Amino acid sequence: MNNDYRKIKTLIEEHLTTYFKNENNNHEKRFNEIINYSLLAGGKRLRPVLLYKTTELLNGNLKYALELACALEMIHTYSLIHDDLPAMDNDDYRRGNLTSHKVYGDAMAVLAGDALLNRAYEIIISTILDSNGDKGVIKASELIANSAGFKGMIIGQVVDIDTENKDISKDVLNYIIENKTGKLLIAAIVSAGYLSDLNESEIELLNKAAYHIGYSFQLIDDYLDVAGDSDLVGKSIGKDNKLGKNTYVKYNGIERTRSDAQNHLNIAKDTLEMIEGYKLDFLYDIIEYLKNREK
Ligand code: IPE
Ligand code: IPE
Ligand code: MG
Ligand code: MG
Ligand code: MG
Repeated sequence: MNNDYRKIKTLIEEHLTTYFKNENNNHEKRFNEIINYSLLAGGKRLRPVLLYKTTELLNGNLKYALELACALEMIHTYSLIHDDLPAMDNDDYRRGNLTSHKVYGDAMAVLAGDALLNRAYEIIISTILDSNGDKGVIKASELIANSAGFKGMIIGQVVDIDTENKDISKDVLNYIIENKTGKLLIAAIVSAGYLSDLNESEIELLNKAAYHIGYSFQLIDDYLDVAGDSDLVGKSIGKDNKLGKNTYVKYNGIERTRSDAQNHLNIAKDTLEMIEGYKLDFLYDIIEYLKNREK
């Protein structure tokens, strides 16, 4: 991660501290603490950084980008809290800390996730109002909603859980990867295109690049579950195999998973290079970083 990445990450994190803090009583104070335990626990902030920085590179509206970036990170964080629950992946560690349900119990973890998801839409609606219904903001909001929803991250999670301990076809494996992880990364990058009023063919290129970034991201996640260092990753290692998960590694082995991820990232870079008139070096740097990430 370079300095520019760190700078944007800090900006996002400062902004994230502002959403769950105005409490009127001790109930709200406690609930804010529970939510912030997960939301402010670190993490790479890849999706909001991509949304915000890509908008900057494409000369889009940064005020709206910051709000939507935080909304997207809330949706992502809720998905992690729920993903870790005993009813799903039953994980004890996340972002280097005990998971929400380990500290506060399952019910509070469910509710913290619910609140984060809801707050994301409160932010999205306020941003649309704030922009007087700007078309780019509405398109970005629609994309985020679709990517997170029934035909996005959630259906990916459904199939991930539903196919535990079963063998699946290549198509179903792709479906899981594209939805549970790919969709939110597409939302991050393509939203920036909408906020910057790119034309249709430029949006298509962004979408294609984002698809390959998102796909590769889950491949490396699967790789790290086998070959990573739990202190760096901040999660327990070796869980996928124990849970009978259908990962890319299960079907392709460790080495192939890593090299396929790198191929996807190369395609992403080649695709971005076809968008003319913008200097996208920051995105190329992120692609390089993703190839070798250890957390
Ligand atoms: C983990 O996402 C879940 C996946 C979609 C693979 P990240 O690896 O982006 O998690 P954080 O946000 O950095 O903790
Ligand atoms: C989860 O994939 C993707 C989400 C939507 C949260 P994983 O279950 O592999 O993510 P980790 O490894 O727990 O972060
Ligand atoms: Mg999972
Ligand atoms: Mg998991
Ligand atoms: Mg994983």
